[in-house]
Amino acid sequence: MNLHLFPIPDYFSRVCLTGIFGCATINITVAELYKREKQAMTQATKTKAPTFTKLVSKEGSTEYPLKAIHICEETFAPLEVAYDYDAIRAQVSRESIQAGPNSIWRYKAFLPVESENPIDVGTGMTPLVKSHRLARRLGLKNLYIKNDAVNMPTLSFKDRVVSVALTRARELGFSTVSCASTGNLANSTAAIAAHAGLDCCVFIPADLEAGKVLGTLIYNPTVMAVKGNYDQVNRLCCEVGNSYGWGFVNINLRPYYSEGSKTLGFEVAEQLGWKLPDRIVAPLASGSLYTKIYKGFQEFIKVGLVEDKQVRFNGAQAEGCSPIVQAFQEGRDFVSPVKPNTIAKSIAIGNPADGIYALDIARKTGGHIESVNDAEIVEGIKLLAETEGIFTETAGGTTIAVLKKQVEAGIIDPEETTVVYITGNGLKTQEAVQGYIGEPLTIEPKLDSFEHALERSRTLERLEWQQTLV
Ligand SMILES: Cc1ncc(COP(=O)(O)O)c(C=O)c1O
Repeated sequence: MNLHLFPIPDYFSRVCLTGIFGCATINITVAELYKREKQAMTQATKTKAPTFTKLVSKEGSTEYPLKAIHICEETFAPLEVAYDYDAIRAQVSRESIQAGPNSIWRYKAFLPVESENPIDVGTGMTPLVKSHRLARRLGLKNLYIKNDAVNMPTLSFKDRVVSVALTRARELGFSTVSCASTGNLANSTAAIAAHAGLDCCVFIPADLEAGKVLGTLIYNPTVMAVKGNYDQVNRLCCEVGNSYGWGFVNINLRPYYSEGSKTLGFEVAEQLGWKLPDRIVAPLASGSLYTKIYKGFQEFIKVGLVEDKQVRFNGAQAEGCSPIVQAFQEGRDFVSPVKPNTIAKSIAIGNPADGIYALDIARKTGGHIESVNDAEIVEGIKLLAETEGIFTETAGGTTIAVLKKQVEAGIIDPEETTVVYITGNGLKTQEAVQGYIGEPLTIEPKLDSFEHALERSRTLERLEWQQTLV
């Protein structure tokens, strides 16, 4: 029975219901019905006690309730979700996870949502590909590629964080969701909000790639293209967030949102046969993804799903926006903001919110953070495509180029099990490679035209080879 319940006097509701059903035996008040319906719903949606308990400051121990807040009032440090790991240990095993959905929600006990019906659009469980040709090209023996270029529904890892954030947004009662985005986040927020029936307004820098803009507009949200860089967009969103009652996935919902990236750690551990790799290489923008892969590994160790092991955390930034690399190289424990200028727009964050925490992880794990220039980023995109058949965007090109640079510098041991994280899809950033790839051979619909073109292309190939040998 689907009843819309209004606060009306008891006697009236008894009369109404008796009237509606035409039967004197229905002698129940609306208040009673409401209570019963609520009890039934609670039983249906919360079969297990939530495992997340509170928000805590990343600096100090101040605790906060599980609301839409993200900054510690005392230290101004970000807030982090805390869990009851004994409860998680009691709820999960390798077998129970494997029996779960083929999506991020198989790790639900580790995620900050209460409902038994989270927003599941098939996000997660993307392939972990054992690399052969790229590995051989780089001289690595155990290289794996975690391919979130094919994550669902919008082809980037952001679908993970948004699935979690919007599920939590719904639980906290938000009807409008929003974000400050470098592109992929806007795609995800708009798509998943459409699926969940939430109103959506996203903010992006006005100079984003066409594929990122179209890939947002298609879901019909309100899109604000701000004349400024991401850091300016973010500042504006903080102001909007203060005056509108919206759920900004990466501002007031950030503690919940960021937890979604842990699933990139969980999946890799599970896909490696419940083992941790020796090293990972991941892109850094705000630094959140990187720090949460680390948290994911630590949590699996804590609850006994994998053996304890030191995983080295390597990170990648574009030279035109590399505030974390600069701090790493200069031995600083603070990050100085920079003004972004790179083709890698998705990771162009000049003032990274989690920069200092990423730095700390790189250092304490014996990892290394490095940057590459735009030309190297394009080469990285092409290298991955040509060797593995994976078309990544500029963030992935940055990561592959940094991997190559670090191998050549002797930082990565060829024997190590290394996982490189590809976090977005190249179809969204086609501008980055235009002019750097071949063109189709246009021919007449005749055999001799085809043969002539084939001969020409083979001659050109030979000439190119000779040039590279010189
Ligand atoms: C494709 C892609 N990879 C990596 C990142 C970096 O994410 P984070 O801000 O969590 O460091 C982003 C950020 O938007 C992105 O779009």
